[in-house]
Amino acid sequence: MSMTAKPEAQSFDVRPLSPLMAAEVVGLDLRRPLDTATRDAVYDAFLEYQVLVFREQTLGKEEQIAFTEQFGTLEEHMARNRGAEIALLHVVSNLGPDGKPAGKIGSTGWHSDKSFRPLPSLATFLHAVTMPPNGGDTCFANMYAAYEALPAAEKAALEGVRVVHSWEHSRLHKDGYKVPEEDRIAAPPMSHPLARTHPETGRKSLFLGGHASHLDGMSFDEGRAKVIALEEFATAERFTYRHKWRKGDMLMWDNRCLVHRADQNFDAALFPRVLHRTCLRGTAPA
Ligand code: SIN
Repeated sequence: MSMTAKPEAQSFDVRPLSPLMAAEVVGLDLRRPLDTATRDAVYDAFLEYQVLVFREQTLGKEEQIAFTEQFGTLEEHMARNRGAEIALLHVVSNLGPDGKPAGKIGSTGWHSDKSFRPLPSLATFLHAVTMPPNGGDTCFANMYAAYEALPAAEKAALEGVRVVHSWEHSRLHKDGYKVPEEDRIAAPPMSHPLARTHPETGRKSLFLGGHASHLDGMSFDEGRAKVIALEEFATAERFTYRHKWRKGDMLMWDNRCLVHRADQNFDAALFPRVLHRTCLRGTAPA
């Protein structure tokens, strides 16, 4: 499909990558500011496909920040990014302090970025800088599709149910990392609706992922078991898209209706995998 929403818009192609979500965008140079009409047409495609893949981009850090800012308010990453050269851009990497691949990548569990915040992320932008020759994919699960696939009685039962998202829980649960006191204070556990309504499309989705620890208002064990069962259902293969990176890809995805994870399907002790990440602040889930 060719998008030329309004007369002055730059033209670009949007080509779906899977029946469920994701489309590639070809023909834009993201280093150049987008005119309003083009920006709006890109945003419409983002709402329609949830994951956009801009091909053949070469953005520096400041250029990525400038591109991201055209869609909203940038937010800083969690505490471990403090002291970074540019606080608003997070370097996702498997390199150790010696600059060599350290054998492990992060973010391999399903999650929605910063879902433990009062205003969780609206969108994430991830730009491939150095990728392994194969693998190191990023996978997405569509929480609209998962919600819509639930039986009517189960959807009704989810009305009014809230889920606690906790940075402390997800760090401890994932790799036994005990978050420092300052991070616990900066990001206390946050309760959000389990079935949220997208503020722009009006569609409902499940708000889950690795930061979701348990359902509010029941015992931790019972609420945890329900979160685990729902997440297993919602991340089944039929709800997913696997992005196989190409050099120069810039991804933009909607955290309000997707969860994502990195796949360590390459030798992370041999090959570097480095990406630049920026995030936009969202609104309170409702
Ligand atoms: C992230 O979770 O934001 C990073 C995903 C990736 O490294 O593919």
